[in-house]
Amino acid sequence: MDQFLVKNKEWSKKLNASNPAYFQQLAEGQSPKALLLGCSDSRVSPSQVLGAELGEFFIHRNIANVVSHADMNFLSVMQFAIEVLKVEHIIVYGHYGCGGIKAALSNEAHGLIDNWLANIRDVINRNKEELSTCEGIGCQVNRLVELNVLAQIENIKQTSVYKEAIKSGCKITLHPWVFDFSTGLVHDLAGGD
Ligand code: CO
Repeated sequence: MDQFLVKNKEWSKKLNASNPAYFQQLAEGQSPKALLLGCSDSRVSPSQVLGAELGEFFIHRNIANVVSHADMNFLSVMQFAIEVLKVEHIIVYGHYGCGGIKAALSNEAHGLIDNWLANIRDVINRNKEELSTCEGIGCQVNRLVELNVLAQIENIKQTSVYKEAIKSGCKITLHPWVFDFSTGLVHDLAGGD
């Protein structure tokens, strides 16, 4: 692990050299553009993939980027992002080949995590017919990845935090995005690409 501390020193030194005020400005506060909910997967690091600077995204990550109405952790993050940081965009950032999605599709028992994956099994149950038309497990996983991102966007709309914000006139745009680590590209499921 020591190599990371060495890399950190080099990174800090390099940034300081190119902009001596950088860390001072960073310490003064944050004003991120968006809240991003992503998967914990080590390969999808959103800031890196999206070329974001420190301070641009307020980020929460969990297995398979789930919005659970019983999850005080994410709901608190969202409340803070909306009410205090005044973010105007919320991105649900899923990724193809997601292990959490694969696990939710399998009939095997995985222990404690099955309680978390139950959130995704609800998405499976609501889309059984469509998923049955997918040829092969890979196709089924990737379609469920997309359906899950869209379902979590709907879950965000159902939270009291979001409803209150909209009622009080906040403009919040929701973005269903999926990262494909076989190409490095992020797809916008709302259209575009
Ligand atoms: Co994942």
